[in-house]
Parts: sequence; structure tokens; C-alpha cells
Amino acid sequence: MSFPKGFYWGGATAANQCEGAWQEGGKGISCPDICTGGTATQSKRITPVLEEATFYPSHDAIDHYHRYKEDIALFAQMGFKMYRFSIAWTRIFPNGDEEEANEAGLKFYEGLIDECLKYNIEPMITISHYEVPFGLTKKWNGWADRRMIECYLRYCRAIFTRYKGKVKYWLTFNEINSATGKMGGFLSQGILNEIKTMEFMDQKDVPQNRFQGLHHQFIASALAVRMAHEIDPDYQVGCMNIMATTYGLTCDPNDQIAAQKQNHLFNWFCSDVQCRGAYPNYMQRYFKENNIKIKKEEKDDEILKNGCVDFYTCSYYMSNCQSADPTKQDAGKGNILNGVPNPYLKASDWGWQIDPIGLRFSLNEIWDRYQLPIYVVENGLGAYDKIEEDGSIHDDYRIDYLRRHIEQMHEAILDGVDLRGYTPWGCIDLVSASTGEMRKRYGFIFVERYDDGSGDYSRRRKDSFYWYKKVIASNGEDLD
Ligand code: BG6
Repeated sequence: MSFPKGFYWGGATAANQCEGAWQEGGKGISCPDICTGGTATQSKRITPVLEEATFYPSHDAIDHYHRYKEDIALFAQMGFKMYRFSIAWTRIFPNGDEEEANEAGLKFYEGLIDECLKYNIEPMITISHYEVPFGLTKKWNGWADRRMIECYLRYCRAIFTRYKGKVKYWLTFNEINSATGKMGGFLSQGILNEIKTMEFMDQKDVPQNRFQGLHHQFIASALAVRMAHEIDPDYQVGCMNIMATTYGLTCDPNDQIAAQKQNHLFNWFCSDVQCRGAYPNYMQRYFKENNIKIKKEEKDDEILKNGCVDFYTCSYYMSNCQSADPTKQDAGKGNILNGVPNPYLKASDWGWQIDPIGLRFSLNEIWDRYQLPIYVVENGLGAYDKIEEDGSIHDDYRIDYLRRHIEQMHEAILDGVDLRGYTPWGCIDLVSASTGEMRKRYGFIFVERYDDGSGDYSRRRKDSFYWYKKVIASNGEDLD
């Protein structure tokens, strides 16, 4: 068993979940900076006015901002070929609407990119990873407003120009399809209608804004693809989706239709637009039935057509089930995605149903649909880790999870899928996006940082660190 030559083994992070230094180097406030910590059962809170005694996990996170050299050296020890990270938009344009880019921010990422290149680690950069400038959310209600496109493109121009010749792979929006569901967008999608303190889960959902916001993101993404190619013909720009394959709970055709509907809306709609350059027909019915009217400008269809992405990427953590029987719908319990629990699968401690075979299935579906190179740019197990007395961390559960997913990726490659890379999530422990916790750990590297804000940020290798190093060295042959 081995993977294609040049396969990109690596890891992934996002700025707001690892950098910290939330106000250094001229950085402005990102939406996650006003979110408190939470737990699996207690939602984090949004506090537009920061509270003095409250802990905000993104403010210091794991201090990657000051420790990235140490972290990248550890990634290099594991043999990483690729590091997927995001740029915090607010480091480059603090409020989001400035005319000039912030030099200190550009310089910071230049250092980070150079550090990767020093070890022959290929950077893959997410341009927007759940961290819209809070300034733009306040001013315009985020992506609900078309003027966001201009700000985003100014930001793209600044980074595409500055990192030309050093970076090849870009992703326009992290998990863009999260906005097809109620929680989508992390304050970025025009769902913060009244700016007030509230539970994260209580954000007022306005589907019209969410889908209009998505339309603006599609246009922004398509124009960014064009811009990237003009600035550097070697640039490759991809989309990034949450892939959560949805099965019918039973072979009752009604369940199959329920699953197909969910697959259309959640798994395919955004990537169909970004990979094929047009809105799919099935969305017309959804918009009609949900009273959503997308405002388009005259040239929009042409922009979409001419701005298809070069490759497809996704996160993959779980699959989902749907039933046509409303009494079976088990919102919140089955999975984070509110499906029906799958009786054949076990869930993680956070209730995410683990389905490695679903990854093979998904990769085949994606390949059949788009025939574009594919990267799995997030995958992993959020779990509690324990430090033994001798300082070791035996995370065999994580190794088992990753091994089973890698096996299935290999099967997909044998099926004929053009899979180019794998960057598991949170290759170093970081703040959880959904709950704001540190205790939900994904890393190969443990970080001494805890949910009460204690810890000295020291780094420590888990058993999975040594295991992944072997996996990479053997190009996926040695999974023991
Ligand atoms: C993806 C996001 O949804 O999943 C990441 O792109 C996130 O930002 C990851 O951290 C894991 O989710 P969580 O909630 O466990 O951190």
C-alpha cells in the first residue's frame, strides 16, 4: 500500500484558533475575538463589547504567533510536505475597509511562509477561515452586503502580490457550505442582525441573508480565482467544503429522497457553483419553497462561469443520515449536523459520528462529479488527552481514527480518485471552533494550555507524532 509519489502529507490550522496575539502588529478585531469559551453542552457567547473578567480563547490561543518557528520545526520533524494555515484578514486590513494593507501583518506571514519553505513544506493558505473583520460585520452585517466583495478582493490583491513566487495553493473560503445551515458563517454571514450579547446558538437566522451572503462569496471567490491567475499563472486556487455524506436512514425511497435533498443543499450546492461555474437547478426549487430571492447583478453569471476553481478540497469528520419520518429527526443528538444517528457508527466524545468508509464514498462522489484534483484538508479526532507521569501522551484512539481514514483514502485512490494531499486538522492542539475549548484536542503535538487560561504553552510530542512521522516517511505504507 502506498500513495502516489509527491503526495502532500501535512497538517492544518486556522489563525484565530492558534495565533493569539490578537492585538499585536496592528491587528484589528476578528469576529472570533468577541466569542467567549464554551463547552460541549454550554454554548460559547458572543459579546460585541468585551467583558473584563471573561476569558476569550482566541486572544492568546496557543501563541503560534510568537512560536511558529518552533511549531514548524516540529512539523518538519514529522516530515510534513504541506502546511495549511489561514491568514487573519484583520492582520492585513484591521477593520477590513482600509485602502492600504498593514505592513506588519504582511511581514508576519512572510516570515511564516519563509519558515515553511526553509523545510520544503508547501504552504496552502486559506484566505478566509471563519474570521471576518468585526469592523465589517458591524458596518455592513458582513457578507449580507455586496460591498464586502471589494474589501475581500483588496485583501486578496495584497496577499497574492506579496507572496508571489513563494506560495502556490490558495483556498478562498473555509467550509463555505457551512452557511447553508443555520449556524453558518460564524457572525460573518449577515446573521448578526442585532449586535448584542447572546449565546452563540441563539444568533438570529435570516436565510435570505445567509444565501445572499453566499452569493457574494461565490462572486468574490470567482473574481479572486481570476485575479490570482493574472498575478501569477502558477497560482492554484481551490474551494473548501465540509463534506458530510448523507445516507438515507433506510432503503425506503422516501428516505433516499430526504438524503438526496440534504446532499444537494449541504454537500453539493456550493462546490457545484465553484467547480462548475453556475447555480445548480435543484436550488431553484429550494429557493422558491423557502422564499429566498437572490439578488444578482447583470454580469454575475458570467463572473461565476469564468471563475471556476482549480481544485477541490474538503474537511471530513463525519457522515450523516436523513429520514423522511419527522419523528426520527433527532436534532442536535445524532450529529453536529442535526441528522439522524446512524446505528452502524460510533461517535466521538463530542457526538461526531465516525465513518472512515464514508470518506472513501465521498471521495468517489466528488471525483465522479468534478474530475478535479482533490485534497482532504481537514480530518481528525477531537478527544481528551492525558499526560502520563513520565510526560508521555498515549493517544492510540487518535492513531486508530487517522489510520482508518488513511486506509480509506488509499482505497479511493485505487478506485481511481485523483487525491493529492491530506492535512489533518489541528496538527498541533488549538482552540475548538465550535465550542471554544482547549480540551477538545486534535494535535500530534500537545500544548500546555487549558480552558481556565492556565498553562505555559510548552509543546510535547504525543504517540501520534511518532506514528505520523512513520506514515509520512513510508508514504502511507507503514500504518502500524
Ligand atoms: C472545521 C473548521 O469545521 O472543523 C475548523 O474548519 C474546526 O476551524 C474543525 O476547528 C474542528 O471543529 P471543532 O469545533 O472541533 O474545533
